[in-house]
Amino acid sequence: MDQPTGFRADRHPSESFEDILERDTRRIPDHLRQGPLRDLGDEGVPVTNYYDPAHFAKEVRHVWLKVWQWACREEDIPEPNDVFVYENVGKSVIVTRQADGSIKAFYNSCLHRGRKLVDKSGHKVDFRCKYHGLAWNCSGSFKHNPIGWDFPQFDRRDMSLPEVRVESWGGFVFINFDPAAAPLMDTLQPLADHFDRYDLANRYKAAHTSKVVPCNWKVMAEAFMESHHTIVTHPQLAPFLGDVNSQYDALSDHVTRQFTATGVVSPMLADRNIDDLGILKAMEAAGGSHVSGGQASKQGGVAAKKPINRARDAGPAPAVLEDGVTARMYASEITRKALAAEDGWDYSDVSDAEMVDALLYNVFPHMSFWAGYAPNVIYRWRPNGLDPDTSIMDVIILKRVPKDGPRPKPVAEHRLTLDEDWSDSPMLGALAPVFEQDMENLPHVQTGLKTSGTGVVHFALYSEMRIRLLHANIGRMIAEGEARSA
Ligand SMILES: [Fe+2]
Repeated sequence: MDQPTGFRADRHPSESFEDILERDTRRIPDHLRQGPLRDLGDEGVPVTNYYDPAHFAKEVRHVWLKVWQWACREEDIPEPNDVFVYENVGKSVIVTRQADGSIKAFYNSCLHRGRKLVDKSGHKVDFRCKYHGLAWNCSGSFKHNPIGWDFPQFDRRDMSLPEVRVESWGGFVFINFDPAAAPLMDTLQPLADHFDRYDLANRYKAAHTSKVVPCNWKVMAEAFMESHHTIVTHPQLAPFLGDVNSQYDALSDHVTRQFTATGVVSPMLADRNIDDLGILKAMEAAGGSHVSGGQASKQGGVAAKKPINRARDAGPAPAVLEDGVTARMYASEITRKALAAEDGWDYSDVSDAEMVDALLYNVFPHMSFWAGYAPNVIYRWRPNGLDPDTSIMDVIILKRVPKDGPRPKPVAEHRLTLDEDWSDSPMLGALAPVFEQDMENLPHVQTGLKTSGTGVVHFALYSEMRIRLLHANIGRMIAEGEARSA
């Protein structure tokens, strides 16, 4: 594979994620092997990109109204006439199941005087405007006008609700405001191929918490696109996380990923001589159990009374380890057994990496999907309406539908306000304290950007390559959009 020359030298000199994969106790699927890099230069980005209303307006027009965005899960609207209302950048969309099982999406606006047709998600007989009573069928066809005597012009016009593009993958429903957008798969590949193995369609939403956060949407997204903030922001995770030696790949313009190993000591703590038992003790202390590797390291922190995110019942760290068993091997094996006990599936052939590591794929501009077999954490970031200074983060956790069924019902979204803490959600358990550590930085980033003395922020060449690509994509889309409208 051709890589930009000299670029690789910017990686941390300690062992690589590939080196760690070489010690895996099971076969590693090909898609976990090293992917391509992207050399995007070393220029910084203007701080105004994070708060200037004029820049934000361009992002809305040329990015948000052009990209595929995850609106809901298919399981949120299982029956005909079930409706989910998705909102972003001042737009509201009705996503609804049709009688034939397909899904349609409509602009949520009455064709008479413009009132939103549907205020809340749920099961509907029709879309009846609460202002004058005009109504549409869930298929989008015009149903009824109680003051029709005064609207003879409607007989000559198409009064169907205008549709928004909608496509599905992995149980996720995506919408796109651009009628000319390329198919969803053009955005999702190669993620969709890599995730075949994890079959997200046959998972259910076990947790869904969202929160308004006082920072630009990119500030929030970027907090989850590199691991080298661990040693300072989440020091309790560093004894068992390969943070600065994480692997970063740019698989396409839209899909990037980072792989962070669990059950190995951070190279930043190399002088501490932490052994395998020490690693497991740190995992127990930080996460409540050593089952919680990788994905669960994000779910670490104080053990919740009722952890929901991950296989559990692992108990405390062992007093001794058998010869040749590393902390990573031990945690992987415990996780295999605990997951199998919980959902009835067989994990005996699954790699250590897919059991415990943080395998985060991002889809431009606003989604992150954790690969692997343990409960998958999914993030979504978007602006809070039309405010460049606040944003909304969604965290959902998908669990595998038990082998012997039935399919559990998905939970409803729990929305936290600006003033609430992630731990105010009953759903996130031990994940919440780690998020709180991330969130403590974000308002200070937003205010700090506004007082910058240089007017520029800088990104690491390797570990922050994905953030650089995020900005490159936005810049390209704005330039192309402005050129089209010039
Ligand atoms: Fe973090």
